[in-house]
Amino acid sequence: MKGGNLHKLRGNKLSLSLIALLCTTLVVWVWEKTPNLSTFLPPPEQFDIFSSATVVPARTPISLSENKIETPSAKEDLSAIRRPVNALPDEGGKVVVLPQTGSSMRSSSEKKDKGKESKNMPVEKKVECNYAKGKWVADKRRPLYSGFGCKQWLSQMWACRLMQRPDFAYESFRWQPQGCNMPEFTGSEFLRRMQHKTIALVGDSLGRQQFQSLMCMVTGGNYSPEVLDVGEEYGLVIAPGAIRPNGWAYRFPSTNTTILFYWSASLCELEPLKEQDPATHYAMHLDRPAIFLKQYLHRFDVLLLNTGHHWNRGKFTANRWEMYVGGKPNTDRKLARIWNARNLTVYSVIKWLDAQLPQHRQLKAFFRTISPRHFVNGDWNTGGSCDNTIPLAGGSEVLQDGSSDTVAEGAVRGTRVKLLDITALSQLRDEGHISKYSIKASTGVHDCLHWCLPGIPDTWNEILYAQV
Ligand SMILES: *[C@@H]1O[C@H](CO)[C@@H](O)[C@H](O)[C@H]1NC(C)=O
Ligand SMILES: *[C@@H]1O[C@H](CO)[C@@H](O)[C@H](O)[C@H]1NC(C)=O
Repeated sequence: MKGGNLHKLRGNKLSLSLIALLCTTLVVWVWEKTPNLSTFLPPPEQFDIFSSATVVPARTPISLSENKIETPSAKEDLSAIRRPVNALPDEGGKVVVLPQTGSSMRSSSEKKDKGKESKNMPVEKKVECNYAKGKWVADKRRPLYSGFGCKQWLSQMWACRLMQRPDFAYESFRWQPQGCNMPEFTGSEFLRRMQHKTIALVGDSLGRQQFQSLMCMVTGGNYSPEVLDVGEEYGLVIAPGAIRPNGWAYRFPSTNTTILFYWSASLCELEPLKEQDPATHYAMHLDRPAIFLKQYLHRFDVLLLNTGHHWNRGKFTANRWEMYVGGKPNTDRKLARIWNARNLTVYSVIKWLDAQLPQHRQLKAFFRTISPRHFVNGDWNTGGSCDNTIPLAGGSEVLQDGSSDTVAEGAVRGTRVKLLDITALSQLRDEGHISKYSIKASTGVHDCLHWCLPGIPDTWNEILYAQV
């Protein structure tokens, strides 16, 4: 009897253990197949970046070595490019030296990524690609347009083929993300996918470079007289006394696709403190997005924001910006450090945008990370230069999982705003700047901030295209 019960008990225990083992095996198996567990969530529609099920991968913040340098004040136009070599200012207004080109910062999640690549199961398509991680490869099919041909859209100062620059090796590279493929960009396919859509880029001169690059990519750099100037529809005009419009908008009649750029270097609402006074200072509302964004958001299908190189004393002075928070002049000494102010603005604008998305279902929103500078032996106004012409001399791969722009990365985390993370991959391309062929070269100023076009910003657009 006892023996029989014991047997029964053992039998029960055995089957329980079996079930437990089976469950464990199943869990482990599923875990292995789905490293970030995204398949446990309701399946997001492919490419629907706003589905609540979209998992924003928790990236490991990178700690960068610090290098404290005081930034002097300056008033010139190129003061945007006044920060120490290879450096981004960090939260404390200090500067952060970016990792050396080709540096590897492996995190524990990399192993999982490796596993993901080695298997090619349908579920993997749902795992978002980290386009920021990968390598540059030589490709004769680049550039995607001619630097001579795209005169219609390129500012001459950025078209290195039209300046005196004699070397163009930097033009013939393509970005290859690790473990996923980039769709081949063609203007016709882009227009087909963007039929009846409006793509808006809002930001500073680096955003304008990306806009010009996109216009060239879509037209293939060919003269396109059919493209319509529709700037007025978006209030993009030359203000009295201004030297250029506050933006540009063009429409491709074949597909009714509109591409526009609006100039908003800080992304903040700027309020003149003395109406009518041309020399007025501006309340720069750190916690309010530019009015343009509020006004036209409902008309955008793709929005790409950026802000970065105007967050310095020189630009604040030159633009007569005065920080306001909560509608009042800022009294917070911590925010007086400009990089903290940028942090507040980046977080505020992304939070605002994220809150708008449910009412703007057509809209896909992106924030582009900061574009790296490459001044060596000085800064923009102290004889700094970027003379290397050999592509990828410092390495061709980005191995880190997280973004080098930790502010932007932190700000989008947990929101439906996507990161267009171009910082580390552009950091590898020091030879791609305008360098000594800058329009200010005669004054000894080299441009190691802006990029030659065609060039690196073309890749930013290819990655944007892949993510849209
Ligand atoms: C063109 O697209 C816009 C949306 O961007 C739409 O409002 C407009 O009706 C379209 N026009 C034509 C002629 O299809
Ligand atoms: C940036 O701002 C956010 C939101 O206010 C805050 O949570 C974060 O700690 C700030 N980061 C830094 C480095 O100051």
